[in-house]
Amino acid sequence: MADKPTKGLADVVAASTALSDIDGQAGLLFYRGYDIHDLAGRTTFEEIAHLLQHGGLPTGEQLAAYGAELVGGRKLGALAEANIAEKQAPMEALRTLVSLAGGDDPDKDSNSPEANLRKAARLTAQQPILVARYHAARTGTTIPEPDPELSIAANFLLQITGRTPGQHEIETFDACLVLHADHTMNASTFAARVCAATLSDMHSAIVAAIGTLKGPLHGGANEQVMRTLESLDPAAVAQAVRDRLAAGEKIMGFGHRVYKTEDPRATHLRKMSKELAEASGDDTYYRMSKEMEEVVFETKGLYPNVDFYAATVYHYLGIPTDLFTPVFSVSRMAGWTAHVIEQHADNRLIRPDSEYIGERGQKWKPLAER
Ligand SMILES: CC(C)(COP(=O)(O)OP(=O)(O)OC[C@H]1O[C@@H](n2cnc3c(N)ncnc32)[C@H](O)[C@@H]1OP(=O)(O)O)[C@@H](O)C(=O)NCCC(=O)NCCS
Repeated sequence: MADKPTKGLADVVAASTALSDIDGQAGLLFYRGYDIHDLAGRTTFEEIAHLLQHGGLPTGEQLAAYGAELVGGRKLGALAEANIAEKQAPMEALRTLVSLAGGDDPDKDSNSPEANLRKAARLTAQQPILVARYHAARTGTTIPEPDPELSIAANFLLQITGRTPGQHEIETFDACLVLHADHTMNASTFAARVCAATLSDMHSAIVAAIGTLKGPLHGGANEQVMRTLESLDPAAVAQAVRDRLAAGEKIMGFGHRVYKTEDPRATHLRKMSKELAEASGDDTYYRMSKEMEEVVFETKGLYPNVDFYAATVYHYLGIPTDLFTPVFSVSRMAGWTAHVIEQHADNRLIRPDSEYIGERGQKWKPLAER
């Protein structure tokens, strides 16, 4: 056993997985051996969720059956219906709501492969509904009922914005969901696997993942990117970014533990952001993002990660800024649930060691003598 830990477990191989793979030097990402560049814009999120959870891209017949299961799974149970948690902040609310959905789930007491697949489909189907219902409750608005004819991407945009999305918007958002669906041993997935490895249930593992995704160094970064853009003077972006970097601040949406070159997801998201910006008639945030990208690269040699251009894409799609990280959870649900299935299928408790750096040989004294 190594004596010294690697800070942040960098370069430590913590699990074996057949779900996704990253080549950090080449900037490549694969889902079950398929290059993300081949999948983005050509497959739907439903197909990718099937690929991850069931092990292969679906045939037409399998997709119809899985799609019907997802549509059926949109219905919330009594516990979630009774407390939509609208007084909590978005990620807190989702943590609560997934926990309640666990209480509602008919398979909650089983970790069998069949029960796990059913729970994975229900969680994937319910997550966008939970975000939409939460948003409606906190804004005191009524939203359209889920439309069984619509995909997850189209139905989500409909319920969040209240208007029928255009085809280009649907395809763009669907591609976003595909791009965010899985990403090897990222922090939230690792958290889910640690929880699942105690033979706890899928919903508990997903609650752990949601709590982990919430942090600004992980999924919370996309919201922070938008807040940064909103806080900057469009005419003074470069100087502001230089000043922040000089002051030792991190610029959200840049840098990555694994990618040493451009994050392949950012390549797609940059293009989407540009297209949506041009279509909106006001490309200010896109232009500011490009300028930020140039300055951060010039000054620190860092590339944008998945969260950087996702922020402006979601903004142009009309998604409220504080729902950006919940949107991340909608897509990552496909991967999280697949990792729980994989962990349960070949389980061993995840219990690393630690390096003790505290005092030794301390002598206990009674309270009166301390
Ligand atoms: C993603 C991230 C957490 C990876 O962290 P990591 O592998 O532990 O790398 P570190 O935080 O140790 O960073 C290494 C160096 O690069 C710098 N750095 C990393 N990301 C930076 C950023 N976004 N802005 C400015 N500097 C950054 C660090 O300050 C550090 O510099 P130093 O060696 O001079 O101290 C980190 O890049 C980050 O915090 N990015 C911003 C948050 C974000 O976008 N998260 C979403 C990830 S998909």
